[in-house]
Amino acid sequence: MSTATANHGHGPSDGVTRRDMLLIATGAVGAVGVGTMVWPLISQMSPDASTLALSSTEIDISKIEPGQIVTVKWRGNPVFVRHRTPKEIKESEDTPLSELKDPQTDAQRVQKPEWLIVIGICTHLGCVPLGHDGPYDGWKCPCHGSVYDVSGRIRSGPAPLNLAVPTYAFLSDTKVKIG
Ligand code: FES
Repeated sequence: MSTATANHGHGPSDGVTRRDMLLIATGAVGAVGVGTMVWPLISQMSPDASTLALSSTEIDISKIEPGQIVTVKWRGNPVFVRHRTPKEIKESEDTPLSELKDPQTDAQRVQKPEWLIVIGICTHLGCVPLGHDGPYDGWKCPCHGSVYDVSGRIRSGPAPLNLAVPTYAFLSDTKVKIG
């Protein structure tokens, strides 16, 4: 079974790790002092590899029209699947890295240019951003105004990082397995 993943400086598992760390860090704000007690518990609660292997989601992308975003649930989190138009792809590819707070090329974030797949959790404090919103027509987070572009890269606002790219693989032209 294919386990191909997007390969980039902030790789999929890397992205999930960063998000997890952000959530842990967020929780730690109110838990300073008990962190050393809590951490072993969190470690014990981590699912083993066989559990993780079961927690994948297969989605049929054949009905997602160009320009459309579909949200699916994966391991309890929203994942945005965006069928990008040629215009959106070109804008994403032409963006200079110097404009980006968390510099990544578009190619580092997608396996196929037409399909952007990102975890729909704002990297600021974990809200779910709204699609086709904000000046880049990417996503805008309703909580504190973070703006993401059509590649899910943070462009303005308090969020420090791009929307994370999950582990995923194209099983065929119409089917994607996330996780
Ligand atoms: S949680 Fe998204 S901007 Fe704060």
